[in-house]
Amino acid sequence: MKLNFALILSIIVAIGLVALVSTIIQSSTEKDNLNNALKARTEQIARDFYVNGLQFIETNNSEKVQHFTDSISRQYNILGIVVYYNSDSIVVSSPSLNPYLNYSLDYISRSINTDTTVDDFFKIKGRRVYQFIRPVNKNAVSGGVVIFYSDAQYIQNMIGSIWMRNFVRWFIQALIISFVIIIIIRWGIFNPMNKILNWVKAARTGNIELLKRKPPAKFLAPLHKEIVNITKAMHEAKAVAEEEAKLRSQSESIWTPERLKIEMQNILDGKKMIVVSNREPYMHIHSGKEIRCIMPASGMVTAMEPVLKACGGLWIASGTGDADKEMVDKNDKLKVPPEEPSYTLRRVWLSKEEEDHFYYGFSNEGLWPLCHIAHTRPTFRKVDWDFYKKVNENFARAVLEETADDEQPFILIQDYHFALLPALIKKEKPLARVALFWHIPWPNPESFGICPWQREILNGMLGADLIGFHTQYHCNHFLETVNNSLESRVLWENFSVNRGGHTTLVKPFPISIAFTMKDYDNAENFKDPNLLQSKYNINAELIGVGVDRIDYTKGIIEKFLAIERFLEKNPAYQGRFTFVQIGAPSRTLIKTYSDMVNAVEKEAERINWKFKTKNWKPILLLKHHHSHEEIAPYYASADMCMVTSLHDGMNLVAKEFVAARTQSDGVLILSRFAGASQEMQGAIIVNPYDIEKTADAIKTSLEMPLEEQQFRMKQMRQSIVGNNIYFWAAKLLRTMAAIH
Ligand code: G6P
Repeated sequence: MKLNFALILSIIVAIGLVALVSTIIQSSTEKDNLNNALKARTEQIARDFYVNGLQFIETNNSEKVQHFTDSISRQYNILGIVVYYNSDSIVVSSPSLNPYLNYSLDYISRSINTDTTVDDFFKIKGRRVYQFIRPVNKNAVSGGVVIFYSDAQYIQNMIGSIWMRNFVRWFIQALIISFVIIIIIRWGIFNPMNKILNWVKAARTGNIELLKRKPPAKFLAPLHKEIVNITKAMHEAKAVAEEEAKLRSQSESIWTPERLKIEMQNILDGKKMIVVSNREPYMHIHSGKEIRCIMPASGMVTAMEPVLKACGGLWIASGTGDADKEMVDKNDKLKVPPEEPSYTLRRVWLSKEEEDHFYYGFSNEGLWPLCHIAHTRPTFRKVDWDFYKKVNENFARAVLEETADDEQPFILIQDYHFALLPALIKKEKPLARVALFWHIPWPNPESFGICPWQREILNGMLGADLIGFHTQYHCNHFLETVNNSLESRVLWENFSVNRGGHTTLVKPFPISIAFTMKDYDNAENFKDPNLLQSKYNINAELIGVGVDRIDYTKGIIEKFLAIERFLEKNPAYQGRFTFVQIGAPSRTLIKTYSDMVNAVEKEAERINWKFKTKNWKPILLLKHHHSHEEIAPYYASADMCMVTSLHDGMNLVAKEFVAARTQSDGVLILSRFAGASQEMQGAIIVNPYDIEKTADAIKTSLEMPLEEQQFRMKQMRQSIVGNNIYFWAAKLLRTMAAIH
């Protein structure tokens, strides 16, 4: 209020001063002009008077003079004319002019004495009068003057009205300006200030909802954006602090990226950490004229990426995107993730032949089916094996190049593509700490024994100081395989292998996802009840979801058969339940994989054809690569998720679905052949080959009471948060560091 008043007052005073000065100038100019005009007019009257009136004066004919003066006074509408002759004898005058003469006497004498015209203004009885005194020709009448009296009051009135007009104008201006200022202050300053105040309050209280509303004016947009960013940063910092506090109260049982980072710094103590995998975390591909960066569909990437993001380091992987080469520097490196670079990716290039034989051939037609008991025969070709060795050597060279200045780097090798890499690195760098994590299952010794190069593979792997599998079961299979086929000492008491003086620990490290207490506590509901209706025009009251690479190990066909059987057995669900299968085509240059894509499509079509109605179908197959962000709404909106792998190392989809259930509802159906089934106690565990029972499990999932869903889901969420990927990485690194 004070500010308003002071501002208005000072502006009004300033305008008042300007108006005052301009009125003074205007009135004095106007007064001068009017005075001059009156003088000129009176002079003219005097001249006219002298032309004819002088003769009457000279002849002293007072009657005629009187008559003449009266007629001139009337003609020119002046107050009157006095003919003054010789000191105090007045020739003619009207009685009304007598009072004026008293004022004129001094002037009359001055005019007679100097024989010049004299004029002036005077005020009598509140009226302003102009006197003009002109001497009569000396020769004719000695000591005579004629005095012309004109009314000058109108000049005073006009000046007064100028002042009045200007005052009224100033007053109206002041009113308008005050009003405008109040409006400007209110709408232009106070309202935006109030908005900003509310934003700052929202930032302080972490009320992000309030900040989601658009700023009321464009000019506030940059400030709003900054406040939103600050709020987010504060929110995150607060969440981290809260999480840290919780951690302390939970005796540091839960791991976060921050905690892992510190742990890693302590463990590495300045040494390098290098991750090696075949699949890269970020792939650049041409999309029209643009280059897009995508994250490939890979459980290994899903798991490892948050670790590198938290701790930094170097990740060496094959560059397989068609635009990958355009994005690296001269050392084949780039900083990732693109939106917030925190670690380095070095791309290793494979020739077409290498890709054919190393990746498609030995890795995915040999080792993949060998390790997954999914009834697809492995194919072993000598040429594939040779390229497998060659590419392992290429990667070993890349690792050695990167660690040339570090005798004891930590090397984390990922998966079945690099079984030979541990020994190749150790041979050159015996002090390096090398771990190999096998993301897929390890079969029983008899199954593995069919591989013609099993001894070379085991020898290569045993170069590592630590070999990790998802489950103890896989560790046991591996140790048995080693026991059966190599000359070595398997120590079952601490699950290690001693061979040629070198010890390799073989331990389970169930891999996980980046799910922290902050995510666990997020109770926001992301469900979209119109998800299928709006995008696909499918009317479904109940939704199921499955997310898989299209791979024969994933049991997608078995899943569809179970859905078909469920609908047959429970016709009441026809028209009500739709299963969304997100399927990323994978390794399609291999015939079994392209056949699989066709088979999955055909099966979905067949089942849809059998049951579908105008606005409903039982299976929605979304057959292309989906980003994590694109998958999220399906996880959030589904009533159940089905993971029906015929054999799977872990399966992170099961964990991702559970992590996405912020309301702790929904049901997970999980294959007993996925590693995750050992941890996800709240899931409905099925044998995907048993179509009848899996169909019944679908029914159970859809009819499960909410309390039971929540009981199970909470149990699984707690299990994941306690065994998240940060915990996995910390455990693995601590084990590596503890090896002597
Ligand atoms: C499995 C393997 C990963 C692999 C992923 C995708 O999860 O364990 O190493 O990256 O499948 O397969 P791809 O052949 O596309 O890399």
